[in-house]
Amino acid sequence: MSGIYDVPCVQGFIRICMDGWEQGWHERNGGNLTYRMSEEDVEACRPYFKTPGDWVDMGVRAENQACEYFMTTGSGRYFRNTALFPDETFGIVEINDRGDAWRIVWGLENGARPTSEFPAHFMNHSVRKEVTGGTNRVIYHCHPVNVIALTFILPLTDRDFSRVLWQSMTECPVIFPEGVGVVEWMVPGGPEIALATCELMKKYQAAIWAHHGLFASGPDFDTAFGLAHTIEKSAEIYMHILSTGQPVRQTITDDDLRAVGKAFGVTMNEAFLD
Ligand code: 13P
Ligand code: ZN
Repeated sequence: MSGIYDVPCVQGFIRICMDGWEQGWHERNGGNLTYRMSEEDVEACRPYFKTPGDWVDMGVRAENQACEYFMTTGSGRYFRNTALFPDETFGIVEINDRGDAWRIVWGLENGARPTSEFPAHFMNHSVRKEVTGGTNRVIYHCHPVNVIALTFILPLTDRDFSRVLWQSMTECPVIFPEGVGVVEWMVPGGPEIALATCELMKKYQAAIWAHHGLFASGPDFDTAFGLAHTIEKSAEIYMHILSTGQPVRQTITDDDLRAVGKAFGVTMNEAFLD
């Protein structure tokens, strides 16, 4: 049987949702995911589009995303249900020609709306589209336990988090050599957290929201999910180290970090190295 669920971007969207659920990062309706569709994705899905809903103003505007199509999880909907009830859990929205309103063209059935973080996703897509020359397509927000726990004990600075994550797992400096950003605690779903995150996403592929979760980006589902997975695993290792109560005898030094950067051809963020 062929249908919208055979389209690769739809399959990829469902897969990352279920993978995130299995990791324990999406209690209840926790977390959200958006994907900026390519022209080929849109054409593959278009035969299954319904009569569009009304335009809904977003309260934010990004001209570089006028007329784009996004896949988005629904507000209040559960990642756990994505494979079982896909058209109620997520959907596709079209953006108007001003880049300031959306309308539903597929899915989000039974009264669902895009995630409450859609304005934050939308504005961060705009930033990442700009700084990556159009290659970024995914924004993924999840609630991983160890990243959140770390925000209660580390100073809430980009430098402190980047150093701990780099030092706790050798591959980290290769995967995010620029480091990660940190946003102090803010009300979820509001314009303040959206704008604070946008500032950070000009420099970083991922930002940590204090006492809340992680906001990761990437050109495709594998890369965005892999980045979130790497950051959370490194945080988990650090939490294990702390929970032993033992003093740290040795770690990856700053010169080691520079050596990894050199060996893998990535430019480490020197501002975070001593
Ligand atoms: P939504 O259900 O609106 O996506 O909100 C979940 C969440 O994690 C808010 O940050
Ligand atoms: Zn959240």
